[in-house]
Amino acid sequence: MNRRSKELLWALYGRLVMNSWTRRLLERCSYLKMITQSEAIIALRKREDKLDEFYWRGKLRHYGHALDKGLHRGDFSRGRGKRAYGLVKDALSHVSSKEGRRDPSVVWAARRIEQYEDFQTNESAGIVAAYIKTTCRHDDLLDAIRTRRSVRQYLDRPIDDETIKKIASVLDWSPTSCNRQPGRVYATSNPDLVRKCTTLHRGAACFTNIYAPMFLLFCADARLYRMPVEWAMPYVDVALGVQNCVLVAHTLGISLTLLTCATLGKRDERNLRKMFGIPKYFHIVVSAIGGYPNAGAEVPVRKNTELFLMK
Ligand SMILES: Cc1cc2nc3c(=O)[nH]c(=O)nc-3n(C[C@H](O)[C@H](O)[C@H](O)COP(=O)(O)O)c2cc1C
Repeated sequence: MNRRSKELLWALYGRLVMNSWTRRLLERCSYLKMITQSEAIIALRKREDKLDEFYWRGKLRHYGHALDKGLHRGDFSRGRGKRAYGLVKDALSHVSSKEGRRDPSVVWAARRIEQYEDFQTNESAGIVAAYIKTTCRHDDLLDAIRTRRSVRQYLDRPIDDETIKKIASVLDWSPTSCNRQPGRVYATSNPDLVRKCTTLHRGAACFTNIYAPMFLLFCADARLYRMPVEWAMPYVDVALGVQNCVLVAHTLGISLTLLTCATLGKRDERNLRKMFGIPKYFHIVVSAIGGYPNAGAEVPVRKNTELFLMK
């Protein structure tokens, strides 16, 4: 196919995708994909027994969050939040193992129940928590944000498991819708696996020898969402956390470069899922390769953020 025909095809494709009807259809498909793996459908199919503890921990954070918000209200009053209280209690009843009961999400939700019950009977007026100020200086944070770069060549220096854990551990420290904290990171520093993973991504074409000491997959548990309007939320929630990981990696001298999964073909994604054992209800949001940089990258031109400030 010559260049002109290719350009014409791309233009046609762009037209179709930009067409509002096609876009709406695509959005609906994404929504359908999410909804078929979401809580509502699982419940409909009465497959609750198949829900693992990770799911119930998620529901405890979600429902516990509703209860928690009520307890933090300045105008907290007794008798409110009964529905949320019931939902948290029900979710808690699904966690019975000793290990599950020790899980931080479970302990946190159980504490919310205790507080709620306590506040129904005494004169206390809900939770009053002090605002915690950060010790990080504005300039330091700005420096980390602005010096972070996506580099495409790395030193032949391995990354140890402790460092990978440090990077992954901040994924769920970003704001998440209803405090779901849906993230899960699949990671490898095995050179063969890294090479296999990167060759599946067309986005990795510009890397020197496609060598990288580390490969990460950032995923979202789609089961925790159920409303049609929430179809994009798993991606929003995890994407916010990915920036945490990228910045923390940067403070450790590691550059993470994101690889878009949009360029993954169906078969490539299947292979990737098989390699890591990723269940289908975990949506791959984005992947990343990383390492200690061998060279930097020029700062891409930054357009000024458009801000319309109403007075
Ligand atoms: C969602 C997403 C997907 C990306 N995919 C790729 C990719 O497939 N290949 C690549 O080389 N870079 C990828 N990048 C990195 C961008 O090219 C890079 O962030 C951009 O050029 C700006 O450069 P900077 O990160 O150094 O500021 C991706 C970035 C994002 C946010």
